[in-house]
Amino acid sequence: IKTVRDVNLKGKRVVMRVDFNVPMKDGKVQDDTRIVAAIPTIKYVLDQGAKSLVLMSHLGDPKKDMKKAKEKAEKDGKTFDEAAYIAGKHRMAPVAAYLSQKLGKPVVFAGEDSCFGKKAFIESQPEGSIIMLENTRFHKEETSEDAAERDKLAKELASYGEVFVNDAFGTAHRDHASTASIAKFVPVSVGGFLMEKEVNYLEPIVTSPVKPLVAIIGGAKVSSKIAVLESLLKNASALVIGGGMAYTFLKAQGHTVGSSLVEDDQLDTAKSILAAAQKVGAEIVLPVDHVCADKFDANATPVAIDSIDVPDGLMGLDVGPKTLAKYREVLAKAKTIVWNGPVGVFEFENFAKGTGEVAKMVAEATARGATTVVGGGDSVAAVNKFGLADKMSHVSTGGGASLELLEGKKLPGIEVCR
Ligand code: 3PG
Repeated sequence: IKTVRDVNLKGKRVVMRVDFNVPMKDGKVQDDTRIVAAIPTIKYVLDQGAKSLVLMSHLGDPKKDMKKAKEKAEKDGKTFDEAAYIAGKHRMAPVAAYLSQKLGKPVVFAGEDSCFGKKAFIESQPEGSIIMLENTRFHKEETSEDAAERDKLAKELASYGEVFVNDAFGTAHRDHASTASIAKFVPVSVGGFLMEKEVNYLEPIVTSPVKPLVAIIGGAKVSSKIAVLESLLKNASALVIGGGMAYTFLKAQGHTVGSSLVEDDQLDTAKSILAAAQKVGAEIVLPVDHVCADKFDANATPVAIDSIDVPDGLMGLDVGPKTLAKYREVLAKAKTIVWNGPVGVFEFENFAKGTGEVAKMVAEATARGATTVVGGGDSVAAVNKFGLADKMSHVSTGGGASLELLEGKKLPGIEVCR
């Protein structure tokens, strides 16, 4: 992709899309990973002498999220305060303040009224100012299915600068006004350093990985991972399939799975993935033993099951020691490892061991020179929980975006930077 290095930014007004969609509680940032990740590009743009830097992002989806929160409050018989809810979750002002503190520089908030009509305000700021707009998703035009609607907001945002920088990798899979449409109305569109790094780590896994490539794909549902499994099969020597989705595969192979999570409507898909793997000579690594429980509960008693088959009345919530030994053997040969999705319910202490061990194995692979890439919200949460994030070659800031890139799709927010 083209990046900020490829354009002259001196004296330019820059409009930059970031993904500051961070978890918020009572108007406070709960995890600043994505904010910190955008700082190198922000500093670079200012160091190059840009006249102004306008930052824009979404922060949750006010309309959709509020509807859910309201329904939940009603169900629980609680009163719901709309303004307090919006202030606590979706306003960008506290994020601007947080960024300002991190940068040690003022970040001017352009006002919660609108993202429209801010040109004069931006131009009235001193040279070198950072200005942050309100959450773009307060405007229906941001996410509209209708391109002409999106263009209304995109044109307005484009009028705030001559250079569009997209550093919002986490939102690169969305064809929205501020992530993609805007590029039609500015003279130059380039990626930031975060976008560049994400693309440089994730894209080669699909196009030209250093082999052997081993993919660890976990998580609850097969249905959300079919496309990525099919895409990775083209290059992987082994696919490690763990987590809830492994049980659909085990059932497809004729094993008993007890009361484990199974998507019966995906059994045929699982069979066809198994057949496709056989055809290309890729090994599929499924659990051979389990840590089970009689219910899906943090306090459920763990029961070790030393066989592939899960007995009636039990559900698999983590992989067992023999499976981990197998993982170790397979991962030891890998020159590239991509990990998306936990192999057990790591949020429950009793069922976290498998995912913790996988995190350690991947970290060890990095130490011996393999390229290791972790993508997807849950596996990122896992490496953070086990304190191993800095032991990976790359931990993606994107959930859906990293998954879609691994599926081999073209992402609108990346394409505008080419
Ligand atoms: C994310 O958190 O995955 C990105 O910020 C995109 O958010 P979205 O799924 O609400 O578009």
